[in-house]
Amino acid sequence: MSLKGKVAWITGASSGIGRELALALSQRGVCVVLSARRREVLREVQQSCDRPDAHLVLPLDVTNEDSLPLAAQQVYDRYSQVDFLMNMAGITQRGMAMDTIMEVDRRIMELNFFATVALTKTVLPKMVQRGTGQIVVCSSLLGKFGAATRSGYAASKHALHGFFDSLRAEIHGSGVLVTIVCPGFTRTNASINALTPDGTPFGNMDQNIGDGMQPEISAQRIIRSILRGKSEVYIAGKERMAVYLKRFAPGIFERVIRRVALK
Ligand SMILES: NC(=O)c1ccc[n+]([C@@H]2O[C@H](COP(=O)([O-])OP(=O)(O)OC[C@H]3O[C@@H](n4cnc5c(N)ncnc54)[C@H](OP(=O)(O)O)[C@@H]3O)[C@@H](O)[C@H]2O)c1
Repeated sequence: MSLKGKVAWITGASSGIGRELALALSQRGVCVVLSARRREVLREVQQSCDRPDAHLVLPLDVTNEDSLPLAAQQVYDRYSQVDFLMNMAGITQRGMAMDTIMEVDRRIMELNFFATVALTKTVLPKMVQRGTGQIVVCSSLLGKFGAATRSGYAASKHALHGFFDSLRAEIHGSGVLVTIVCPGFTRTNASINALTPDGTPFGNMDQNIGDGMQPEISAQRIIRSILRGKSEVYIAGKERMAVYLKRFAPGIFERVIRRVALK
């Protein structure tokens, strides 16, 4: 399928998986709307894209719900359509549930869940009206099972499945697709930016993340899955076996996961 001339609005485009998606899509002729909070970093990503002038830098804190309609208007003023809304912005955590202040759980939920829902609701009506489009949601393998030190993060990613599986059923036949992407360990700044129990950044590169999938490869696999119209995909190494272990042998999974320290 040719992607030339399509428009992809990517949140989290300043770093990691979102950044690599922007670069890869620009090489396939897609016009990319680059959103995240850091304008200067987005500009650098734009300059690294194929045909920099074809893309729009749109700085945005996606948790600021009131700013979303105006942001969407800027996208429609420039391109008049959004073919792919790619909700990649997200934050993870490092900390036991018992030690983590509620504000951290709420911050994670606001960004990973509510902001994704709010931006989708901003863009969806026009997609349905056009009878075409694709909502891409970035979950995680931890959207399929929970693990120690990731309670709020796993909860926020599980919530995405409940919401977007329901939405997919509601809009079936409208021409708009919903693809939930579940990455495993991917070599990005995720653990550096992760929230600790008091809300300060963790600041370290985890071994698993450092040894994880290259984000360029992750981006290519995500694009392939989107083009195939998949409902849910696991973009991961062997750690994805945990999804199947939980599904088919939940008792064994429970014994295994409590011994796993996700470093
Ligand atoms: N890396 C992994 O191992 C892994 C595994 C499973 C799932 N994921 C998921 O993959 C997605 C991308 O994460 P990543 O690994 O690429 O991490 P990353 O390198 O830390 O990137 C996170 C992105 O989110 C943006 N962001 C954070 N807060 C924002 C806000 N309030 N408004 C707008 N943008 C915001 C950041 O940009 P600014 O700071 O410029 O705003 C950055 O571009 C996330 O949803 C994450 O949960 C990652």
